[in-house]
Amino acid sequence: MRRLPTGGVLFVVCAAPLAWLAWGVIANSLGPDPVQVVMQGTGAWALRFLLLTLCITPLRRWSGRPAIIRHRRQLGLWMFSYATLHLALFAQAYVGWSAPLLWEELAERPYITVGFVAWALLLSLALTSSRGAQRKLRRRWLQLHRFIYPALVFACLHLWWQVRSDAGEALFYSAVALLLLGLRLYWRINERKRGRAA
Ligand code: HEM
Repeated sequence: MRRLPTGGVLFVVCAAPLAWLAWGVIANSLGPDPVQVVMQGTGAWALRFLLLTLCITPLRRWSGRPAIIRHRRQLGLWMFSYATLHLALFAQAYVGWSAPLLWEELAERPYITVGFVAWALLLSLALTSSRGAQRKLRRRWLQLHRFIYPALVFACLHLWWQVRSDAGEALFYSAVALLLLGLRLYWRINERKRGRAA
């Protein structure tokens, strides 16, 4: 029996929210403020894909299927694409690609500052995501890719800073983020203990 091309299925699943947003823009069905809908949609999907990327390692450990690790790069690159689209839309619709205006926003609005720091950290991961970079950087690659943890913290802060009345969404994403970060901490403490016992 032929195996299901999981990489292809994942590609379609990851592209679906983008296709839905693009279709909404073309069909003019996103309501009175389509820019805000796309801005919120790309931001929310960037955060969801960031959390999903961090689910891969626990899934690999618990499922006993080491092969799923090869999907982590695709998920990570989709996450970065949504975050970059989110930033590009901000640059176009909010500051009109003006560098001085962008600096002003960065200096005056802490939620924009932390969003930008998260994006800059994610950029360094996307640029070094290839196998070539992994081979070249060796141990430093692992250290660099730990930037994903502060990027997640900054992305959650970016969301919390925007909460006006209903904090449900921010609470949910932050709880998942805390769980995923706590799991890493737990593994690290356990590995240290085992190292000392050996
Ligand atoms: C690159 C710098 C960034 C800028 C300038 C930026 C800007 C913004 C702005 C202006 C909004 C409010 C949209 C609105 O309600 O009109 C927003 C919302 C949001 N952003 Fe960002 N952002 C950045 C990076 C990120 C990153 C890296 C992530 C996640 C990985 C992210 C996730 C979100 C989320 C989840 C929302 C809220 C969506 C919702 O209300 O459902 N942003 N961002």
